[in-house]
Amino acid sequence: MRNVDMKMHIRGRSVFVDDIPAQEGLLHAVLFLSPIAKGTIEKLDISKANKAEGVAGVFVGKDIPGPNQIGHMIPDQPLFAEKEIQYAGQPIAMVVAESKHLAKKALKLIELQVKEEEGVFEPREAFKSGMIHAAPRVITAGDLDSAWSKCEYIVEGKAHNGPQEHFYFETQRALAVPGEDDTMKVYASVQSPGAFQHHIAEILNIPMHKVELEIRRLGGAFGGKESTAIWAVAPALAAKLLNRPVKMVLGRNEDIATSGKRHPYEFDYKMGLDKDGKILAYQVDLYQQAGAFADISLAVLGRSFLHVSSSYFIPNLKAMAVSCKTNLPSNNAFRGFGVPQGVFVIETAIEHASEVMGVDPSVIKRKNLLQDGDFLPYGMQLEKTNAIRCWEELDRRSGGIARRIKTIEAYNKANTETKKGISVVPVCFGISFAQTALNQGSALANIYADGSVSVSTGAVEMGQGVNMKIALIAAKALSIGKDKVRVETTNTSRIPNASPTSASTGADLNGMAAKMACDTLYKRLQVFAAKKFNHNNPDEISIRDEIVYLKSAKTDYKWEQLIHEAYWDRTDLGCRAFYATPGVYIDRKTERGRPFAYYSYGTSITEVTLDCIRGTYDIDSVDVVHDVGVSLSHNIDKGQIEGAIIQAIGWSTMEQIKYNSKGKMLTAVNSYKIPDIKFCPKEFNVYILENSLNPYAVSNSKAVGEPPFIHGLGAYFALVRALRSFRKDKPLPASLPITPEKAFMYLYE
Ligand code: MTE
Ligand code: MOS
Repeated sequence: MRNVDMKMHIRGRSVFVDDIPAQEGLLHAVLFLSPIAKGTIEKLDISKANKAEGVAGVFVGKDIPGPNQIGHMIPDQPLFAEKEIQYAGQPIAMVVAESKHLAKKALKLIELQVKEEEGVFEPREAFKSGMIHAAPRVITAGDLDSAWSKCEYIVEGKAHNGPQEHFYFETQRALAVPGEDDTMKVYASVQSPGAFQHHIAEILNIPMHKVELEIRRLGGAFGGKESTAIWAVAPALAAKLLNRPVKMVLGRNEDIATSGKRHPYEFDYKMGLDKDGKILAYQVDLYQQAGAFADISLAVLGRSFLHVSSSYFIPNLKAMAVSCKTNLPSNNAFRGFGVPQGVFVIETAIEHASEVMGVDPSVIKRKNLLQDGDFLPYGMQLEKTNAIRCWEELDRRSGGIARRIKTIEAYNKANTETKKGISVVPVCFGISFAQTALNQGSALANIYADGSVSVSTGAVEMGQGVNMKIALIAAKALSIGKDKVRVETTNTSRIPNASPTSASTGADLNGMAAKMACDTLYKRLQVFAAKKFNHNNPDEISIRDEIVYLKSAKTDYKWEQLIHEAYWDRTDLGCRAFYATPGVYIDRKTERGRPFAYYSYGTSITEVTLDCIRGTYDIDSVDVVHDVGVSLSHNIDKGQIEGAIIQAIGWSTMEQIKYNSKGKMLTAVNSYKIPDIKFCPKEFNVYILENSLNPYAVSNSKAVGEPPFIHGLGAYFALVRALRSFRKDKPLPASLPITPEKAFMYLYE
């Protein structure tokens, strides 16, 4: 019950975009990129490149049949810069040639003259000069102004988090194959079938029904293939203009240098608590480092904004969030979709408050955990809250939170060369697209005459196991073996207008639609079988493990025979279903509503040991209790929890990206480190919360792809504790990640 593709992956037989055999006449496209972060194009001469060996064409903005526009949320981003340059690495032209090598050679013959200007790279600075992608969002709850006077403790500060490279194994790529009658088939490594089909159709100036997007699987995405359309649209454009198949595959360093990252944020926080540690007031400003174009940043910002209170009930609150325009590649979605940033700042504020109060942060956290009846800042009242359940379950399973904190304190008293740190992090993660319209999914289920079943949905398999979950859901709905079900490619001709597979809703939306389609087919089979048995009540027919039952009595009528005869009797064995999450909405004027269908909860405890001579550290252990409702697949969910946490530990502790003062990427594959097996927690215990029923998603399950990412912040805060037990005469660290270098400087600077 692991990933549906596992056996093929291990044998190297799974097909990714670059494994599709070369078509007759295949060409290769590469992009000509801006060397500067801000300025204007004064002269662009492609004539020499055009005549170079093996070159089939060189294209610029004016060659685009449709509008030169690929903005994802607002139309602010040209495919090719024509005059203004907004970031280093921005595409200006495209060379298409017989081989990638020849295309790259020809790139050097393009002549570009630019007038360079001073770029803006800091979000606060951008904000000050009015460079923002949309008006700031502001939310208030309670009465903040009068709450401050009731507080015994007030802490105030600034915090910052750094970016994160997605580091999907399969870099950005697509293969476009022109067909008859102006059609275009595109094999792409993208998460958003409907949106990318739309972008391609617009650029090519053809209707969407002439674009067929085909997605088998992605070699990882993590949000980085959800919005930026450049690398799928550009080869389609070349294929259209040359009427030949065209492929574009980014090299790793080009991918790192020109694609978006997890958003860095700058924060200002102020928190007030009563003498017992109850949080009475919280004010926070979020400045998002969005990059040159809005891309999907406003949606990411919205999620940070709606999660500023994390797992805590805060009666009086004010949050401001703004997306700042800077001269860097547009940042985009990354597992957690803004929530980790929103949680990071409140956890920092609590950390700060705990030092002023002289208690462990976990004491404040436990005291303020959400419970049934509490309101979230946007006015939604909680029910079926599992925040406290997860906390208590963790307390039981991890050897006692308070006891473990005491052990660490004793260790730190006795040791000076190494210090340990421990941190408890609760999770409350809203599930649904905050952009309400996206909460829809559809499925097509076909039963073929031999009894085999195929299911198509809008879900994109990117390693998270959504196809396995859909296969399990379909098999269960029809009561047949999982091996009878094949989950088909994601294809825009079969499934229209599919939402992105993101916000962890892939299985929720598409799984529900698949279940609905299979349930309808099941009903049709009941009707047919009743007719065959001359029985007047189809509801008394059932299928169990591929055998037909009549009034609970087993018959000798088997699935294959049933299907064969149903077909000959002209039963409709194909069914499409559509699901839209009911009841979700948000009023953007008042910032009130029910933006999420439900919440995913969890609590974790992370322990680290810091080498106070070198600044290096080990992640000793992570214990986590996480709520996935009724798990659709225990192994997949466990894998998602572990993977998300390790990815977040990487972001919190070791992954760092550097640009020079002119906005040029300095980081490459050889200077970016993601966690490896040696860096993983020495002890890693994942418990899935039992007896959690979720009526708001398919088969009582809960989304799992992103929420556990939050637990990884525990490594950061455990390191903060370890650093603080070595040195208390400095301000609290408030800049994520804590790399060994930063730890060392903190210890000794
Ligand atoms: N797991 C793997 N192996 N590869 C991925 O690219 N993406 C994550 C998460 N887990 C990802 C992954 C992200 S960002 C999301 S939103 C969810 O999977 C999407 O999958 P789901 O909604 O089907 O759970
Ligand atoms: Mo995930 S960041 O919502 O693709």
